[in-house]
Amino acid sequence: MTLIIKNIRQLLNVRKETILLRKKDLADLPCIENAYLVIEGSEIAEFGEMAGLKYNRTSKDTLDASGRLVFPTWCDSHSHLVFAESREEEFVDKIKGLSYVEINERGGGILNSAHKVSEISEDELFIRSWQRLEEVKKLGTGAIEIKSGYGLSLEGELKMLRVIKRLKSKSNLCIKSTFLGAHSFPLRYRIDHAGYLELILNQMLPAIAEEGLADYVDVFCEKGFFNISEMENICNAARSTGLKPKLHVNQLNSFGAVESGVRLGALTLDHLEVMDRNDIQVLAHSGSIGTLLPTAAYFLGMKMPPARQLIEAGAAISLASDYNPGSSPSGNMNFVFSLSCIQLKMLPTEAMNAATINAAFAMEVEQKLGSISVGKRANIIVTKPVPSLAFIPYSFGTNLIDQVFINGERC
Ligand code: NIG
Ligand code: FE
Repeated sequence: MTLIIKNIRQLLNVRKETILLRKKDLADLPCIENAYLVIEGSEIAEFGEMAGLKYNRTSKDTLDASGRLVFPTWCDSHSHLVFAESREEEFVDKIKGLSYVEINERGGGILNSAHKVSEISEDELFIRSWQRLEEVKKLGTGAIEIKSGYGLSLEGELKMLRVIKRLKSKSNLCIKSTFLGAHSFPLRYRIDHAGYLELILNQMLPAIAEEGLADYVDVFCEKGFFNISEMENICNAARSTGLKPKLHVNQLNSFGAVESGVRLGALTLDHLEVMDRNDIQVLAHSGSIGTLLPTAAYFLGMKMPPARQLIEAGAAISLASDYNPGSSPSGNMNFVFSLSCIQLKMLPTEAMNAATINAAFAMEVEQKLGSISVGKRANIIVTKPVPSLAFIPYSFGTNLIDQVFINGERC
């Protein structure tokens, strides 16, 4: 089937080359005004200015996009979308003044979610996660990375990763799976950290490798959670089973995790709210991508990551939702887009590139997603009539998406 989208006000992020964008290139969003786009089956077949559109195709469907923008779907390269239940009672505790770390120390936070995962069946966990996945798809997410990390036991982690595997096979979204057994020390290993490390290294990682359940490994490297040497042990062992690191670092403290993550060859270093000058320089001169999660900093009422300094120093940055029940109970990438402009002071063009093409690199799907390029998957967003790109992040909270196509199919 052929679909021709015509009279597009602006077709954004059209690219011949797929490259990771840094510095000034991040602000450059190639665009065709008054454009058409042809989708053949699941792929982008052709695009250009309306004047060049030939109407000689048979079996075609057309969509008139007058006044509308068309651009690639979001790639959400950091999420914890598989969880059993929401945690709005902790949200109220936070309003009353408890900190994120205090809630965790009381057995709330990640441990609360782990308890809930231990009580739910795999089938029910799948159903709830599927609903969230369908919801974010309608909001324009075309690819998503999903982490485990609310299992914190062999059975619990396998349960989560099997759910992600089922999501991968049922959904038409592009999904990557990350093993985050090192999200928090479970209560019974609160003192015996070496014991939990042993469980991760000798039981979880081999079982995950045997079932082929993960693409990446993640560690929450933070004071009160996992330290640098624990992160290094886990990443080195995971590497030998084929898993590259994508790491939670510098959310609350700066103590060398960026340097260590870069040494470990991390694909991405995520959060980065607390960055000193050295951290910024080390990241900027590395091949690791810095993933910023502004909705988490917003929800927790914490300092925003220094996006401008990172961009100016030459770091490659991407944006993601961090969708999880504790620090970012929303997977809406449109709000991430807005908040990146409002709070991180990113230009709309920078934020769009960071949430599409750079984000595709951050989950290694850049050859098939992240831009409007011939041969890439037809995962696209068609907006409602809007005057300009900037109108979208400016109108935060208003849903300006009209239609989402995944692999050429309207959803
Ligand atoms: O990325 N920081 C660690 N992990 C999650 C939060 C997890 C939770 O509170 O459930 C995050 O913010
Ligand atoms: Fe996270």
